Amino acid sequence: MIKRKVGVLISGNGSNLQALIDACQRKDYPAEIAVVISNKANAFGLTRAARAGVACEVIDHQRYESREAFDDAMHEMLERHKVEFVCLAGFMRLLSAAFVRRWQDRMINIHPSLLPAFKGISSHRDAIAAGVRVSGCTVHFVRTEMDVGPIIIQSAVAVLPQDTPETLGTRVLEQEHICYPQALKWLAEGRLSVQGQIVSVKESTPQNPTKASGALINPLD
Ligand code: GRF
Repeated sequence: MIKRKVGVLISGNGSNLQALIDACQRKDYPAEIAVVISNKANAFGLTRAARAGVACEVIDHQRYESREAFDDAMHEMLERHKVEFVCLAGFMRLLSAAFVRRWQDRMINIHPSLLPAFKGISSHRDAIAAGVRVSGCTVHFVRTEMDVGPIIIQSAVAVLPQDTPETLGTRVLEQEHICYPQALKWLAEGRLSVQGQIVSVKESTPQNPTKASGALINPLD
């Protein structure tokens, strides 16, 4: 099987990176991680990558005079590793429009809420404060606006009366670790097509290319 080359951008713990590393280690998984790039030298995700024998690089955004210059450096690194797809996995920098354009429909992000609800960095706190009964996670294509972009997959998690942002976050993270490898698999297999905001997932058999639009896994049964 031909494995498509993926670059993963991180800033921190890297548990989603770990889920992708584990998936990529399977023989029948259609992607491999060519490089992990962190903008933080102390990101634990770098240790995870090194342990797995995956190439990793630190590109410290503080050393660049502009967002564009930093993004250019990342782009160069991704090209050097012949990356075809980019996964943002807890990458805490906004990306320039030029970078997003270069990776249009080849770059995905994971966010810990059911978008378009609760964008931003305090999604669990905001979900609890809003009193919603259901939250979850979303994998989506990246667009210039933060946490906006065609949705590939979502997974729902019940919000319990006693939840704190931490307890809710832990259960959502479990779903993230299922959703992200699934979304990357579809992307690497060339099964995703985007029309405006709508993502279609083609069936895997080439003889039967019927489309199943967007996916919700783990419905609350
Ligand atoms: C995850 O909750 C992800 O959805 C968000 O940032 C967090 C990163 O966690 N974008 P980790 O570094 O993958 O553990």
